[in-house]
Amino acid sequence: MKNSRLPLFTLPLLALWVAAGCIGEAPERPVPVADMQELMVSVLEPAAEAYWDGVGEVLTEEGVHQFRPLTEEDWTSLRNAAFVLAESGNLMMMDGRARDRGDWMDHSRTMVEVGRLALDAVDRRNPDAVFDAGAEVYYACRDCHARYATETLRPSDPFSAPEPEEAPEPRAPATDSGGAR
Ligand code: HEC
Repeated sequence: MKNSRLPLFTLPLLALWVAAGCIGEAPERPVPVADMQELMVSVLEPAAEAYWDGVGEVLTEEGVHQFRPLTEEDWTSLRNAAFVLAESGNLMMMDGRARDRGDWMDHSRTMVEVGRLALDAVDRRNPDAVFDAGAEVYYACRDCHARYATETLRPSDPFSAPEPEEAPEPRAPATDSGGAR
């Protein structure tokens, strides 16, 4: 192998060249614009609200009124919200946002997954699935907050308030130590 010494020789030069490139040019990697609080308030929360408002029921004078997407426009805005929710998981994994390489990444990936679920429910035009996916989205928010934002355990949403005549905590409480769901 006549050329076997070539890499050894060129390696320092290559390192210099790469280092120079890093200093001399703008880094080609994503740069966060919103801080974590802004991302929550301006990106995740509105999308989650839009999705949660898609299917459900309200108590009116005449009794329980069910609402669900009716027009193509309704479905489109649910679909848009689902995409924002899914992609927000990716936004949270960015350098400068990720709090660690472990649990934070898992919670963020879960956000991507439940966003996909939300999208799938919309694409199936299935209001019950939209409702169920909405609950999964809520649990994804809640579980990350339980670990990283205990002061924000429960985002404002319909799933956090117990139904008037139901016992509180219809599902498992948030006290388990997180991890995979
Ligand atoms: C990967 C972790 C993670 C996920 C998933 C997550 N959040 Fe958060 N959230 C945080 C952290 C961390 C904070 C605290 C932000 C701060 O103040 O620095 C926060 C704070 C918030 C706040 C309070 C912002 C304020 O005014 O202080 C809201 C509202 C919120 N999140 C909504 C949501 C919703 C809705 C979802 C789900 C659709 C969600 N979050 C999912 C990590 C997460």
